[in-house]
Amino acid sequence: MSQQALWSGRFAGGMAESTLDFTTSLETDSALAFFDVMGSLAHVRMLKKCQIIPEDDADRIIEGLKTIVAEMENGEFKLDFSLEDIHTNVEFRLTELIGPAGGKLHTGRSRNDQVATDYRMYLRESVLEIVSSIDALIDVMVKIAQDHGNTILPGFTHMQHAQPVTVAQHYLAYAFKLSRDADRFMDAYNRMNKCPLGAAALAGTTYPIDRKMTAKALGFNGPTENSLDSVSDRDFVSEIAFAASQTQIHLSGLSEELIYWSSQEFGFVEMDDKYTTGSSIMPQKKNPDITELIRGRTGSVIGTLMNMLVMQKGLPLSYNRDLQEDKKALMDSLDCLLQCVNIMCPVLSTIRFNTDRMRAAVENGFINATDLADYLVVKGIPFREAHGIVGAAVRYCIDTDKKLEDLSLEEFGKFSDCIGEDVYNCITVDMCVERRNSLGGTSSASTDEQILTVIEQKMVRYENVRQENQLLEACWNELLE
Ligand code: ARG
Repeated sequence: MSQQALWSGRFAGGMAESTLDFTTSLETDSALAFFDVMGSLAHVRMLKKCQIIPEDDADRIIEGLKTIVAEMENGEFKLDFSLEDIHTNVEFRLTELIGPAGGKLHTGRSRNDQVATDYRMYLRESVLEIVSSIDALIDVMVKIAQDHGNTILPGFTHMQHAQPVTVAQHYLAYAFKLSRDADRFMDAYNRMNKCPLGAAALAGTTYPIDRKMTAKALGFNGPTENSLDSVSDRDFVSEIAFAASQTQIHLSGLSEELIYWSSQEFGFVEMDDKYTTGSSIMPQKKNPDITELIRGRTGSVIGTLMNMLVMQKGLPLSYNRDLQEDKKALMDSLDCLLQCVNIMCPVLSTIRFNTDRMRAAVENGFINATDLADYLVVKGIPFREAHGIVGAAVRYCIDTDKKLEDLSLEEFGKFSDCIGEDVYNCITVDMCVERRNSLGGTSSASTDEQILTVIEQKMVRYENVRQENQLLEACWNELLE
């Protein structure tokens, strides 16, 4: 061992190499480096102001920490893998730089509250980035909706033709799903945005610290309320893992659909060459690998949610080393999700809709049957009875190989004497779409409304994210002053 652990005083000998190897978290928590130093800067400024450590020591620590930030930015900060984590690395480097005064930094805190604080700061930035990316994807969907308010395709239930809808309605459905995903991330963000620093190891501290000051300096809404809770809970981790899983599930469903929509059988869309791959043996192939990988990677993101929940199950108060396992899988999952959202943007924005194929598909499968039943209802027939009449007419069409709109008035007369000439106008596919103008329906008036709503939701988030980013930026600048 080249360095001693922070806690070596009580131990007669050093720890075995294998103990360090097994317990180290440096490979993962080095991602927290910047936030660790920011947390330390906030902490030492507070120690100084509350006169817990001498002013000149505090100033030396501040200068040392600033040097470390500069080293990190230049790639000069060397990680020492004989030290178990990023907190230890920063503290050792500080002492190397400024001497024994560095040892005063850890007054009134513990790595338990330190790591809980660092990780929340890390996740805040990840969440803000993910939310911005989701909103960019929503923009792509809105653009599709604007361009395709009148492009009709079959709407499906049970994968069977159900009722005609528009491409606008279809992609707005995804836009609203993603809008809720982004909101869920922001909800988790707001609940997570309290500062555990100063909870110390578990019970608070005897020093007259000012937790409100450190919370504010680090851009949190305030300090956490209970020290034991602060160091023991990772519910914010579970919430974010869930928000990530749900978003990834939405992307996976969308991917699955694009995969079969681009098959020869469907042919509803064609993906741009730039975002597809070929086959090493079959020259004709153009494969939707990106969407397949988005679908495929969903397993590991959902697995992370289970991982996080089970890791916490049955943990007694307060800090237990199990909690160290809260980072790697979630960090990886958030990276994965971000990549999936980001690549989905160009995949979708370059997609070509084969509107003729969609239109042709709509003509099959008696997709206007509900509209014929609705027509009968307007003529005074109870819906249940109308349903039966139309069912019989569909049966007749299947047997005679006709479409509902092909039936003559005489043929219609076999099923109901309420059917007149006006029926033909009511069951055209375009009318089926345009007449569905109930709130949230597929008519173009309704999708125009929905576009405004989803943009409004996005703008609210955009403003929140902008303000948070600005606040965090200002905090870092102030701490580094
Ligand atoms: N590496 C630990 C974690 O990520 C933080 C250090 C706390 N260690 C301890 N022995 N109390 O949770």
